[in-house]
Parts: sequence; structure tokens; C-alpha cells
Amino acid sequence: MTTDTTTQGTAPATAPGDTVLDARGVTMRFGGLTAVRNVDLHVNSGEIVGLIGPNGAGKTTFFNCLTGLYIPTEGEVRYKGQVLPPKSFKVTAAGIARTFQNIRLFANMTVLENVLVGRHTRTKEGLWSALLRGPGFHKAEAASRARAMELLEFVGLAEKAEHLARNLPYGEQRKLEIARALASEPGLLLLDEPTAGMNPQETRATEELVFAIRDQGIAVLVIEHDMRFIFNLCDRVAVLVQGEKLVEGDSATVQGDERVVAAYLGEPFEDAPGDEEVAEVEAAEAQATPGKENDR
Ligand SMILES: Nc1ncnc2c1ncn2[C@@H]1O[C@H](COP(=O)(O)OP(=O)(O)OP(=O)(O)O)[C@@H](O)[C@H]1O
Ligand SMILES: [Mg+2]
Repeated sequence: MTTDTTTQGTAPATAPGDTVLDARGVTMRFGGLTAVRNVDLHVNSGEIVGLIGPNGAGKTTFFNCLTGLYIPTEGEVRYKGQVLPPKSFKVTAAGIARTFQNIRLFANMTVLENVLVGRHTRTKEGLWSALLRGPGFHKAEAASRARAMELLEFVGLAEKAEHLARNLPYGEQRKLEIARALASEPGLLLLDEPTAGMNPQETRATEELVFAIRDQGIAVLVIEHDMRFIFNLCDRVAVLVQGEKLVEGDSATVQGDERVVAAYLGEPFEDAPGDEEVAEVEAAEAQATPGKENDR
């Protein structure tokens, strides 16, 4: 993959290890319910950070606080050292892009058009230029289309550029959301359950895609319930339970923490069975149920 997805936002450039996202004391109350309570979380340049926790723990609400959809009741969110403005489009322009737990695509637009929509914060052509369709507009539009096609190539959807978004299978709609988010040329990408509804092969491909995004210089913060995906992928994992950060650390630390096991994981996470183990189990099953191989 040769696509250049380096940040073109207005925020200062970062060196590896610099703090990209710095959320401090973020609290979000809805009436009497405190959905997020005093959460600190940072993401460094070059990192993939996971955010996990039971249903209703406040993960999506925390994302909404980071992206200007909600104004936190308390706390502060900085991106590359600057306090974020409490408006979604300004947060996107600053350099944070996201995907949604409930896919939000323009169903009746093509795949390519959906990505082009994601580029609007990065195109300099103003309203009058677009209305008058002068030479500047046509040049900018051609560049935008080329970039959008590059991104579709990157996520593996180039051949479906002219399909309507609503006709894509679920897994591909999630990939399209990622392409659209990348179209704003972010420095930080927030993914809310990117593999929900995917089969194991699609999940594996998404893992590779997230690594490739990180390798292009985009830091990633990802919410997911698929623990194998999270622990394979993330440099660091934070666990939210009932709105509070319970534990934060590398995969081994989080998997081994008794409080996390009790509140969320339930039992120690085990690696995926290898081919040999699968073959052993199948052989044992075939022995236990004579004639099974003829049923296929
Ligand atoms: N706009 C809102 N108004 C009132 N309550 C809300 C609002 N948004 C979220 N909540 C509540 O905040 C809590 C946290 O919800 P949130 O969606 O952030 O959880 P989550 O960790 O993303 O869960 P899941 O894993 O199921 O997606 C829940 O009790 C939810 O009902
Ligand atoms: Mg959620």
C-alpha cells in the first residue's frame, strides 16, 4: 500500500511518541446519570489504543465528548496541545476523524460520493467557486476524486466506487466508513466497533487495515468488544466500567487484572486455536461420532 495519508490539518506536526490526544477529567452527565466520570486518556503519535468495557460503560459517550457531538459536563480535551472547539466539523478540521457504532453513510449516494463528502473539510474551494464551476473548482474536484479513489483502493473498495452505499454488504459499509473518515486527512482516527457484524476473515482484514493506517502516521483509538482483535492490535488498552476508567495498560496487564476479569472479561483471554489444535479437535469429534465425515 503506497497511499500517502499524512496529516494535512492545521495542527502542528508531531514526532513519534508525542501526545496527540490528551483528555483530562472528562465527565458527561445526562440529568441524574453520569455516563462518563472523570476519565483521563491520552493517545501518542504512532499508537493504537483500545477502549473496552461492558455495554453501557460510556465508551461511545466518551467518543462523542472527544468529537464535539457532546460538550463534556467537566474536563478538557486537547488535540496536539490545543483545546478542541465544541463543534463536530471543527474537530474534524482540527484533525480527528471517526466512524460510528451505528453506520452513518449516505445510503443513496455512491461509494465514491460518500468518500468525497468526507473530503469537504480539506477542500479549499469556496461556495462561489463551486457554484460558478470555474477552473479552480474543476482542478480541486479532480484532485479530490483522485484522492478518494486512492483511499478506496487502500480499504479494498475501489472496484465498488460506483455502487450505491446501501447495496454494500455490512462489512464493506464499515470499510467505507473508514475510507470516508480517512478522507478528512486525520492525525487521529476514532473507530467505534469497526468489526461489529463482520465474519472472522473480515475482522482479520480490518486488523491489517488498522495496522496499515497506523503505519501511515495516523494514531488510532478503537472501541471493540472482540477481545482477540483488541489484544492483537493495541499498544495500550483502557477499560471503562460504569463510566470510570478501571484499568489502563498493555494487553498482558489488562488481561491479567482481576478487576477487569471480574467486571468484563469473565475468564482469561486465550489465543485463537492454531491449525493443529483445530485438526486435533476435528479428529476427536470424528472418532466420537462415527459416520460424521459422510454427513458433509
Ligand atoms: N444522549 C443521551 N442521553 C441520555 N443517556 C445517554 C445518552 N447517550 C448515552 N446515554 C447513556 O449513557 C450510558 C453509556 O452509554 P454508551 O452508549 O456510551 O455506552 P457504550 O459503552 O458505548 O455501550 P455499548 O458497548 O453498548 O455500545 C448508557 O447508560 C446510555 O443509556
Ligand atoms: Mg457504544
